[in-house]
Amino acid sequence: MFTGTTRVAQAFKRLGAEVTALDVTRCAATLARCYVETDSGLVDLRELGEAVATLNALKGHPGYFTDTFCVRSRFFQPANGERVDAARDAIERDYSGSPLEPLLLTSLLEAADRVDSTTGVQMAYVKQWSDRSFRPLEMRVPELIPGPGHAVRGDACALVSSLGEFDLAYLDPPYNQHRYDSNYHIWETLVAWDAPKHYGVACKRVDLREGTRSAFNSKLTMAESLAGVVTKAPARVVVLSYNDESFCDLETLLEMCRTRGHTEVLAFESDRYVGARIGIYDPSGKRVGKVGRLRNVEYLLVSGERAEVRQLVAPWRGGGLVAEAS
Ligand SMILES: C[S@@+](CC[C@H](N)C(=O)[O-])C[C@H]1O[C@@H](n2cnc3c(N)ncnc32)[C@H](O)[C@@H]1O
Repeated sequence: MFTGTTRVAQAFKRLGAEVTALDVTRCAATLARCYVETDSGLVDLRELGEAVATLNALKGHPGYFTDTFCVRSRFFQPANGERVDAARDAIERDYSGSPLEPLLLTSLLEAADRVDSTTGVQMAYVKQWSDRSFRPLEMRVPELIPGPGHAVRGDACALVSSLGEFDLAYLDPPYNQHRYDSNYHIWETLVAWDAPKHYGVACKRVDLREGTRSAFNSKLTMAESLAGVVTKAPARVVVLSYNDESFCDLETLLEMCRTRGHTEVLAFESDRYVGARIGIYDPSGKRVGKVGRLRNVEYLLVSGERAEVRQLVAPWRGGGLVAEAS
């Protein structure tokens, strides 16, 4: 659950697991349909390769994407924006509802991501075009994975009890008030292709301002919502991923996880996200805040039957990682 880019879900699938990926955003659902739900063994790779080549060869034409994200804002260079418009229109026209649709959307999204002019999130773009934004947009065939899988788009709180039975549930919930649909709003619009009205310098979709926030993005509702998902997760083992600078402290997380049985914590030191390392600047570019700490601790809380949990965490003990039994 909370599969986002599907990196973790892909890793499980590559190990041979039958994975169900759940996330609330359109973008995450598209990536999950491509990398988790699609069985590479059942895809006509020649047809996919030809479709990508055809989209790459299209002449660009300016449309909503170019106007909104390259002229009114500067997330992409107009030449690339025009090619996104052309490719996305063609996907809508020729592949809507086909099994290739999520694969081509993923290919386009990843191609656009490689030539954007941001520091990562889409709250803002950089003042001078980034070096990579000068490169021409190039769609590639996604690296599909063999085997079955499932993609579900929706709210984890509402769907947790209806997903089926699992050996292991891996949960990577949001950490704080920053919303993924808002931080990556361009991907939401690229998938929806609904030319929404927008607001602000970043040209975000107006429905982000009006719509309901995830319970996981509010300090008031986060702990209770997460506790509900942890308790109800229909799995023998629950692995909860979190860190030491977010809404819930370790004691609160442990309390939730102990409802599942024996719980052990793995703690990994890691670099903080890039935004934290860049520092804080005002709109004129003047540095106005100090960079805080540069490292944080990522936790994995593993819960379930004692012997199985101990066996799962055993390889990580003594490798420079903190392992705390409870
Ligand atoms: C920390 S990120 C997950 C990152 C992911 N592990 C990855 O590698 O990209 C949290 C994810 O939770 C999703 N999310 C937020 N609220 C949700 C909800 N109520 N139900 C399901 N997913 C939600 C966000 O869209 C986001 O993708």
